[in-house]
Order: sequence, then structure tokens, then C-alpha cells
Amino acid sequence: MTEPVITVEDVCKNFNSVQALKSISLQVQPGEIFGLIGPDGAGKTTLIRIMTTVMSPTKGKVNILGWDSDKQAQKIKDNIGYMSQQFGLYNDLTVLENLKFYADVYQLSSNQWQQRLPHLLDFSGLAEFIKRKAGNLSGGMKQKLGLICTLIHTPKILFLDEPTNGVDPLSRREFWKILYTLTSQGLTIVVSTAYLEEAERCTKIGLIHRGELLAWGSSQHIKQMIPQKVIEIRCSDNRKAMELLKQHYHSHSVSFFGDCIHVFTGDAENLRVQLKIFLENNKINKIITEIHPPQLEDVLLSLIE
Ligand SMILES: Nc1ncnc2c1ncn2[C@@H]1O[C@H](COP(=O)(O)OP(=O)(O)OP(=O)(O)O)[C@@H](O)[C@H]1O
Ligand SMILES: [Mg+2]
Repeated sequence: MTEPVITVEDVCKNFNSVQALKSISLQVQPGEIFGLIGPDGAGKTTLIRIMTTVMSPTKGKVNILGWDSDKQAQKIKDNIGYMSQQFGLYNDLTVLENLKFYADVYQLSSNQWQQRLPHLLDFSGLAEFIKRKAGNLSGGMKQKLGLICTLIHTPKILFLDEPTNGVDPLSRREFWKILYTLTSQGLTIVVSTAYLEEAERCTKIGLIHRGELLAWGSSQHIKQMIPQKVIEIRCSDNRKAMELLKQHYHSHSVSFFGDCIHVFTGDAENLRVQLKIFLENNKINKIITEIHPPQLEDVLLSLIE
């Protein structure tokens, strides 16, 4: 097995009385896209800040590319790219001027910059917009510009904190295509997101909630963590059915999932029949039930409850 490029060991972070991270341990292998998935305030940004050496942990150890984050922070900084949640683009500067600004920050020589630029513009699709002011780019294009600014010094690991937040689905898909291209060239990526459908696109994911890493592994692995199956129910009156199920089947996890209701159970076949009869007896009509393996959202909800 190859050596991990990121090792996080028993990391805790306290902000006064707030325990933002509680004993997080994980590893990321080279070439992976590691997704940090969790709701607002889960601790994603705090963990990314600690991994990028912007912040020190209260307790625990972080090793990036073989360097200790406490003792060799500069080495780490030189070899990673970090696109923070409020990544700073200069709206009054053009695409090209923004890129040049970051090339200067990383002290790239004119030669290095000339060599790097066409490639970055090419795969991001921003070549034809180099003279446009960053402030006049669409949300998706801004994120792509932010991405290539963080790639200017050819980092080995890229940390992206909710890079597609507020970006439309089509641009999000394009953004992910770029991420795949980058990993095929050997880059390792850590990306945080609140979009669960993006979790499916990662090689490995870490589910984080209230500072705890609830699960870590491939999405396939995480889905198998819970033995239950999902009974999906569609019916004439979702709200009423939900109320009834919450009252009478409160020992099961029952939740809305899009326009249907999901019920977790270890005994799907039997419960499916029971629930159908129960709802029919309570004047719920047009009941359709199906049994599915759990989705990531189901697993997350079940682990949180
Ligand atoms: N500098 C700080 N001072 C005090 N509390 C903080 C600080 N930074 C984060 N926190 C708290 O730590 C917890 C984790 O916050 P964090 O920003 O890491 O979450 P997040 O998962 O990135 O959330 P979001 O999806 O909203 O960006 C929250 O309760 C937050 O209020
Ligand atoms: Mg955050």
C-alpha cells in the first residue's frame, strides 16, 4: 500500500467552550478526491484550516506529504493549494491580472508563469475571457478562476472549501470534470461540500457532524455501514402519513426524502406489508412501496439521529 499524503491523528479544536473538532483521525491516499461532507457548522472549514496549517489544532497531529504541520508548516504551504470558502479574487482586476497576482504571491519566475498559464486557461475554459474583469464573471466562472489561481504554483494537494456553493448544476458538473482531469494528472484533492450528490463523485468521503467524523470510506463502504434497508413510500397524503408513522412507528427512523417518505428497517419485507395495511386503515390511499438499499443521505440521517 502507498503512503498516505495526509494523516490526521486524533485532532481536536476548541474555540473557548465550542468543541469544533472532536478527535478526528483520517488518512488520504495520493490521487484521491476526499470529500468532507457535513451540514453548516459541522467543522469542515476548521479541519481544512488545520490541514492547510492556517490554524493549529488544540490537540493531535497532522502530517501532510511527510511533513509535520507544526514544525514544517512552510514546506507544506509551498506544496499545497487552498481555495478558502471566501476565496479572494480582485473584482476590479481582469482574469489575467488576478492570475498574475497569485503568480507573484507564489514568487513564480516569468518563465514558470509563461509556461503554466496556457495550460491553466485551456482546461478551465477561461482562455477567451482573460481580459474580462473578475467582477463581471458568472458565479461558476469565478469559481474556476479561483481554482486555477490556487493551481498556479503546481501544488501536489488541493484543498477546496465548498467550491461549488451557490453554483448552478451545469457549472458544478463542469467544475467536477476539471477536478477529475486534475486527479488523473496525479493531484490529490480534499473538497468540502454540503451537497450530498457531490459526495458520490468522491473516491472517499468523511461524514462530519458537530465536530465528529461519523464515517469515513468510499460511498459504497459507508452505505454498507448500516444493516437497514429503506422502505420508500409514496401515497395520497405525505404529511398525514408522516404524522401517523412518527406516532406509531417512532422506534424506526422515518424521514421525508424528496416527494416520498423513507423508513429504515432491518426487516424491510415484513414491515412493508405492515405499513401498507396500517396506512390504508388510516384512510391513506394510492400507496406505493418499494425497498431500496440506503442512500448516503439516509445513512447520514440515521447516524445523526
Ligand atoms: N474562529 C472561531 N471562533 C469561534 N468559533 C468558531 C470559529 N471558527 C469556527 N467556529 C465554530 O466551530 C464550529 C465549526 O465551524 P466550521 O466553520 O468549521 O463549520 P463548517 O462545517 O465549515 O460550516 P459551514 O458549512 O457553515 O461553512 C461552529 O460551531 C463554528 O461556530
Ligand atoms: Mg465552512
